Amino acid sequence: QTTLKGKDLLALYELTREEITEILKFAAELKQKQKEGIPHPLLAGKTLAMIFTKSSTRTRVSFEVAMYQLGGYPLFLNGQELQLGRGETIADTARVLSRYVDGIMIRTFAHSDVEELARYADVPVINGLTDLNHPCQILADFQTIIEHKGRLEGLKLAYVGDGNNVCHSLLNGCAKVGMHISVATPKGYEPDAEIVRKAMADARLSGAVVEILEDPCQAVKDADVIYTDVWASMGQEAEHAERLKIFRPYQVNSDLVKRARPDYLFMHCLPAHRGEEVAAEVIDGPNSVVFDEAENRLHAQKAVLALTMG
Ligand code: CP
Ligand code: NVA
Repeated sequence: QTTLKGKDLLALYELTREEITEILKFAAELKQKQKEGIPHPLLAGKTLAMIFTKSSTRTRVSFEVAMYQLGGYPLFLNGQELQLGRGETIADTARVLSRYVDGIMIRTFAHSDVEELARYADVPVINGLTDLNHPCQILADFQTIIEHKGRLEGLKLAYVGDGNNVCHSLLNGCAKVGMHISVATPKGYEPDAEIVRKAMADARLSGAVVEILEDPCQAVKDADVIYTDVWASMGQEAEHAERLKIFRPYQVNSDLVKRARPDYLFMHCLPAHRGEEVAAEVIDGPNSVVFDEAENRLHAQKAVLALTMG
């Protein structure tokens, strides 16, 4: 019997290590079933509302396909077209949607909006990315690392670039599962202090080492995984030109990756900007697993949906 039934997935720091392991194990089973053509209609008759106030390719498509493959129905809702966009409260939206659907996935700006939605909804709420974190991405990333390396615990992941939502979820996820994480960001672009505090607390229990650095060379030294993300996230478009200059020394290129283990994995949540945060030779090179990550969004989220809404 899962402890995830009826639960929200807002941030990885709210899950136990056992719950993360359970999701990853079930994701692998569901992926196998899908590949073998074995039907698995675990959410037959159930509906997922998906609210987006930011752009998306992977999250939107993988959640829609996930619900279809689980025998349920996905409802795409553009946040700006809902009454929410005209001032209806989050609380009323949550209470109304809970009368129609069995789960809500939301991608938006403020994490506190998603927490408020979850507080008033009677159905599970899944975070499809906020300014603070991106838990579904990191579950798919962990599934990908296990596929290529056979484990998570004891590996070293280096995150190079902006201390953003993806960086935050990596910090919290690695700390939970016992994977060492070294983050290198320019001064002023470090991860959120409260996120780091939570990661350090979880790391003490799991045995993970959490390092917050400025030097990308030091971070990638002997890394098993090198991860980067865009330098300007959604909502930061106006800062793009300024960030290009500040982040230039943080590009993941063939020079930087030499310091990692020879069998390192290159990871990126996508969308990527070749020539900015990553050089084409790295993201399109033999160590890159970025499309496995993208694929695993589908399988990892099917596990989350089935376990929370099933
Ligand atoms: N990685 C990710 O969440 O991609 P989208 O923005 O395309 O959903
Ligand atoms: N940090 C990026 C991730 C996109 C999937 C953003 O928030 O835009």
